[in-house]
Amino acid sequence: MTDDVRTETGAIENLLREERTFPPPASFVADALLSDRDILARTASEEGFRAFWTEEGNRLDWMEPWSELYSWEVPYAKWFIGGKLNVSVNCLDRHVAAGLGDRVAYFWEGEPGDSRTITYAELLDEVCRFTNALRSLGVRKGDRVAIYMPMIPELPVAMLACARIGAPHSVVFGGFSADALAGRIEDAACTVVITADGGYRKGASVPLKRNADEAIARTTSVEHCVVVRRTGEEVHWYPDRDHWYHDLVAGQPAVADPEPMDSEDLLYLLYTSGTTARPKGIMHTTAGYLVGVASTHRYIFDLHPETDVYWCMADIGWVTGHSYIVYGPLANATSGIIYEGAIDFPDRDRWAQIAAKYRATILYTAPTAIRALMKYGHTEFERDDLSSLRLLGSVGEPINPEAWAWYWKYIGGERCPVVDTWWQTETGMIMISPLPGITTLKPGSATFPFPGVIADVLDEAGNSVSLGQGGYLVLDRPWPAMLRGIYGDPERYQQTYWSRYPGRYFPGDGCKRDDDGYYWLLGRVDDVMNVSGHRISTTEVESALVAHAAVAEAAVVGRSDPLTGQAIFSYVILRSGHEPSDALAGELREHVAEMIGKFARPKQIMFTPDLPKTRSGKIMRRLLRDIAEQRDLGDVTTLADAGVVNTIREQSGTAEE
Ligand code: WT7
Repeated sequence: MTDDVRTETGAIENLLREERTFPPPASFVADALLSDRDILARTASEEGFRAFWTEEGNRLDWMEPWSELYSWEVPYAKWFIGGKLNVSVNCLDRHVAAGLGDRVAYFWEGEPGDSRTITYAELLDEVCRFTNALRSLGVRKGDRVAIYMPMIPELPVAMLACARIGAPHSVVFGGFSADALAGRIEDAACTVVITADGGYRKGASVPLKRNADEAIARTTSVEHCVVVRRTGEEVHWYPDRDHWYHDLVAGQPAVADPEPMDSEDLLYLLYTSGTTARPKGIMHTTAGYLVGVASTHRYIFDLHPETDVYWCMADIGWVTGHSYIVYGPLANATSGIIYEGAIDFPDRDRWAQIAAKYRATILYTAPTAIRALMKYGHTEFERDDLSSLRLLGSVGEPINPEAWAWYWKYIGGERCPVVDTWWQTETGMIMISPLPGITTLKPGSATFPFPGVIADVLDEAGNSVSLGQGGYLVLDRPWPAMLRGIYGDPERYQQTYWSRYPGRYFPGDGCKRDDDGYYWLLGRVDDVMNVSGHRISTTEVESALVAHAAVAEAAVVGRSDPLTGQAIFSYVILRSGHEPSDALAGELREHVAEMIGKFARPKQIMFTPDLPKTRSGKIMRRLLRDIAEQRDLGDVTTLADAGVVNTIREQSGTAEE
């Protein structure tokens, strides 16, 4: 630890020891979009709820008006029923028509230092050209298009062109492997894949086209592959199938008719991990999703689009990027920053240089990033002028009070409210969060549900627990951006989210409400890990491990980690004829990276002769987690063979990374 970091730790400890709460600063309240405390009470009633979302819906441009706000037949909601609209029109044409064509949509910054500024008029032009290009390949309303790209401007362009056509996109994060991409292409039978030759990450190139080639070779539905030239590296070329993006758009007119979409037409699929090895294709539809993300983006980030420069540091390949880099911000005519690379590359303060360069006013990132910067210490970015910042946001995992306080003090200069936003791929929009002009903050708490959202915390039996108690979070009223199901698997939809407590949405998170009714999210309660804000299924990693020839059986748990929230800890039983070794552990870690993606590579592999199981043969993951965290094990009477635990425990001190 350097002296600077040690001093910071002391300052943060003092700050937290006071149990300080943070009311909105008066100067912030003066200009806040929402400062009327009644909004939460008002939207609690059905009437107030309807009035709120009616007003929010009326902000959009409709090709045909909707006739009914919503319908609800558990577990299926419809919103803005009967309406017709196009998402790309609402994100682009509408603003250009309103005279905002010259406003910057994105300040884009490439990792090697190249940059581009794109206005709304330019973005509309490019989206129209690419819409025409995709149509020239035969893409029509309803066709699924896979997108596997780095964080370059062509990524939002591709998403918006799909939206203009009404072709649902399925964006696959560029960190996923060829295998993972193939599974997602196959599940939705995508006919087109849009990718790039490569993408920059910490100075190296990620071979996206090579992965896409491999993935496509394993699937049968893909007819065309569109490739953006980004790194200039050499790629294999399949002339009957492959098209350079720049060739396709050359000569295309900069106008393209938008498809009139029904409010409930599919806008996109986004795959996320569940408790089985098979990822779920979460379905989001058109109107409710757009209204939900636009509204939450506006109020939670207190957006003043004329003056704000908003930077969400997530990758567009995850839902945070879909909702709060692309659709919400563009619907609100925001000027945003997109950065291609790692926030600490090549300099530890790269992120701060960018924030200073564009005079960013709002920053939205994950606790894991905050903790990484915290480790470097604030002197690393002292030379960067962050005085333009006025609001900070956090997302992806519970934020520990220390990281919250450090973020507030050193990045926010003690003047910026911090909004800790809880939500999921499935909810589409933020569900629990402070309203920065209203809510008094407590470090580590996501505070209260968004206006109109009704949440509860339940015990095992489904009774609401009293204040001060912990339990399972549920959501009780439909919301516009909620998922409409799992692609091709209605049963799993019902089972995963609506069966634990019949008729109530079960997100899989533990939660506690304190004596003041503040919500404190406690992490997942199912077999899902959260590593650096990325959701990874334990079973998915297990099946990747057992797919290796040396592995007989595997059990995977998330162990708490000071930097990444959780880290992947794997127990592995080898097949006979294979001996434990560091080399084999390394090979297995690489194997998982290849099957899923580098971010899913286990941090530790422990070889063990046996695993603790219940008498019915179920692996006791909770016990394994306790062993991994070297916790007291408590009651193990349901174990079939209690001796196993001792054997594993004796070894656990020796497991190497
Ligand atoms: C899971 C959803 C939401 C976009 C990024 C992740 C955890 C998310 C918070 C928060 C505590 C959080 C939950 C949730 N989570 N935000 N502010 N406080 N936990 O999306 O991959 O769908 O993961 O992330 O456990 O269920 P996701």
